[in-house]
Amino acid sequence: MAERLRLDKAVAHNFSLTRLEASKYIKAGYVQVNGMCVDEPAAKILFTDELSFSENTVNAANGFKKRVFMLNKPQGYICADKDRDYPLVVNLLSGEPNLENLHCVGRLDLDVTGLMLLTDDGDFNHRVTSPKFKIPKTYEVETLKPLTLKNIEQFKKGLKHPLEKKRYESALLEIIADNFCRVTVHEGRYHEVKRLFECIDNEVVTLKRTAIGHLFLDETLDYGEYKLLDDESLSLIFQKSEA
Ligand code: URA
Repeated sequence: MAERLRLDKAVAHNFSLTRLEASKYIKAGYVQVNGMCVDEPAAKILFTDELSFSENTVNAANGFKKRVFMLNKPQGYICADKDRDYPLVVNLLSGEPNLENLHCVGRLDLDVTGLMLLTDDGDFNHRVTSPKFKIPKTYEVETLKPLTLKNIEQFKKGLKHPLEKKRYESALLEIIADNFCRVTVHEGRYHEVKRLFECIDNEVVTLKRTAIGHLFLDETLDYGEYKLLDDESLSLIFQKSEA
């Protein structure tokens, strides 16, 4: 039998309303199901039904779909659900419905730019951020001091930070210019890239994330711009590298 849901729940999810607000609008006759006014909040509808409210018509299932957005994070925005001092990354998506359900997928430091994902899908968030899954994250790094070929070997072997007990696992360092490189890590440790450069007595000047797995930052997005990702793009995150 096709799955059914309460009308007030469907209206709340699809039109960014509380259940109480949805219920009031339904009782007042503002909601149509498949073009017919239904004024009973507890009425059962199908996910395939069309809902109309306030000159918008949507498929009832729409409001329940999980979303993943790609954002080009600017400097000065914080990956947190609330903060007293800095603007929140999530508020760059303020035009989106049910904004309160969206969360950053992992964190980038305040001064770090580039590829940030935001989602309302907790399982997806876990699969991308948990160290257990070892999803590689790639960064472009400008360094204070010039890079050397020896650094490539040091990163490959894994590094030890003087102030930390646990060694850093092997990371890929690709030198692009004297003070510019690409680094791929998969541990997801706090300030991981900055710490790695401290291990070799160097310092990160600028840091930008360019890829998560095989999903690359869309460089047509300006800082602060974002787009919704489709399933095909999302599958690139989990695609295994060829050996
Ligand atoms: N490594 C860092 O040092 N900072 C970040 O924001 C991400 C990775």
